[in-house]
Amino acid sequence: MLARNCFLLLVVVGGAALAIISFSLQFFNLIPTTPIVEERPLQAADGAVRLAQGKSRKRVFPVPHTQKPNPISEAYGYCNTPSHNEQAWEGHSPADYKLLSVQVMIRHGDRYPLYSIPKTKRPAINCTLSISRNPSHPLLGSFINHMGQGGRGHWEFPLASVPRLPNHNTCEMGELTQTGVVQHLRNGKLLRQAYQPHSLFPSDWSPRQVWVETTGKSRTLQSGLAFLYGFLPEFDWKKLTVRHQWSTLFCGSSCDCPARNRYLEEEQRRQYRLRVGDAELERTYADMARTLGIPTRNLRAANPIDSLLCHLCHGLSFPCMSREDGTTGGCLKMAQFAVIRRQQLDDEMDRRREGLFRKYAILAMYPYLNRTVAKMERVAKASAGSRSPRAGGEEVFTLSSAHDVTMAPLLSALGLEEARFPPFAARLVFELWKSPSVTQGQQEQKAGKGERSKARDGGCFIRVLYNGEDVTYHTTFCSSLDLHASQPLCPLKKFLSFVRRDMFNVVNATSYQEACYSHTG
Ligand SMILES: *[C@@H]1O[C@H](CO)[C@@H](O)[C@H](O)[C@H]1NC(C)=O
Ligand SMILES: *[C@@H]1O[C@H](CO)[C@@H](O)[C@H](O)[C@H]1NC(C)=O
Ligand SMILES: *[C@@H]1O[C@H](CO)[C@@H](O)[C@H](O)[C@H]1NC(C)=O
Repeated sequence: MLARNCFLLLVVVGGAALAIISFSLQFFNLIPTTPIVEERPLQAADGAVRLAQGKSRKRVFPVPHTQKPNPISEAYGYCNTPSHNEQAWEGHSPADYKLLSVQVMIRHGDRYPLYSIPKTKRPAINCTLSISRNPSHPLLGSFINHMGQGGRGHWEFPLASVPRLPNHNTCEMGELTQTGVVQHLRNGKLLRQAYQPHSLFPSDWSPRQVWVETTGKSRTLQSGLAFLYGFLPEFDWKKLTVRHQWSTLFCGSSCDCPARNRYLEEEQRRQYRLRVGDAELERTYADMARTLGIPTRNLRAANPIDSLLCHLCHGLSFPCMSREDGTTGGCLKMAQFAVIRRQQLDDEMDRRREGLFRKYAILAMYPYLNRTVAKMERVAKASAGSRSPRAGGEEVFTLSSAHDVTMAPLLSALGLEEARFPPFAARLVFELWKSPSVTQGQQEQKAGKGERSKARDGGCFIRVLYNGEDVTYHTTFCSSLDLHASQPLCPLKKFLSFVRRDMFNVVNATSYQEACYSHTG
């Protein structure tokens, strides 16, 4: 049946998996947006923001929801419309800690729908960039110019042939919109400001210090470039190599994992069962199909929520049935949209309860996490040697421009199951920090528990941030309470042992190989 075919296709043509999983993930959906209690740290005179100890443990996720979220206000959170009160807790640390490296994964920005609803007009959105259109950004004009010189950069095959700017007067399916470009110019600039006090880069950074990778879709490539431009305006193209990840899981040459595919297939069955058991949803699809004069199954196959979200995010009224003679009939309604969203939220809860997605996610994201920790370890080792941190031209900044089907499993693998489904232009940041150097004498004097463990792992710590919120203490590997008490940040070694061994507990294994290839049958 449908789920089965999708799965087979997924296995056979890995590269084409995106559209298919995206389709299924449309149903994964969004967790309630939660009001975040603002708790700003003290702003030091030099502009650097320092956290008093203990202040970083904000409650990012709510205690289990007793109240159902409003599916419509929740959907606006998904749009992630550029606004002026964004949070950016990146770059905050206890005083005198040194920032060694930053690794960022982004989801592409706002895009045109991937599907169109039969018998309706497609949303009228112009994807040609213009500084006089809203939303705009002070860097937009120079960004457009800079992209015109992109031929000077190095592009891994087949990226050189992908357009570096959205450029259609009527957006193509899945094309990044100007809103999407602006979202990432802003993200990049937010991070530039956050890291400025820490001088992450020398002004003459070397090509080895910056790693940029993207899937082959124009929306991820363009999002990555917009982010990079906000982060390093007027960067030198000659130093830049843009690398290609053929799989949306960023798994490189370690993508083979039969068990992962089995978990995904089971997860898709769970999703399907929940959906067909939802009488209100079924009625709603039937109503919508009647309004448009099409069979229900055609409407369902057109995945209408994707297009409706686009209308909502762009302030366009919902589409109406358009007849051959140019007249229009009935229109789709907000109440119908709300039902589909409500079901998506239910699905999200069911997904967490069942735990199949978590198992899929662990295996899906291991190769990416393995690379992430390996980079951290290299930088940490270099900083422990006689060389000063970063002097060796280590990779200090990594940008991976990805999809919801990348970021959702990454969040799940890290144990951030309560995090909301990745909105457009979502960002997940790993920061590596080194504590102020402690001399041998001081170490012996203090000989406290914290100091001893600091000496063991070279005094390196990580922070994890999601959309500007510090979620370090919500991750599986750093959520234990005693850790809070003795450490100002999460020790790198916790993350290393999680990725290299502990995370496979969830699938009753101790390694990727074992988890992927055992229990076949
Ligand atoms: C789209 O925007 C571009 C740039 O502002 C403009 O030149 C073009 O006329 C617009 N096209 C349509 C169909 O609105
Ligand atoms: C994990 O990373 C190590 C390097 O740290 C590498 O040798 C190994 O092949 C990687 N494993 C997988 C499955 O990606
Ligand atoms: C976990 O793995 C061990 C050893 O492979 C096996 O004996 C045990 O039955 C497994 N447990 C579960 C719950 O699958």
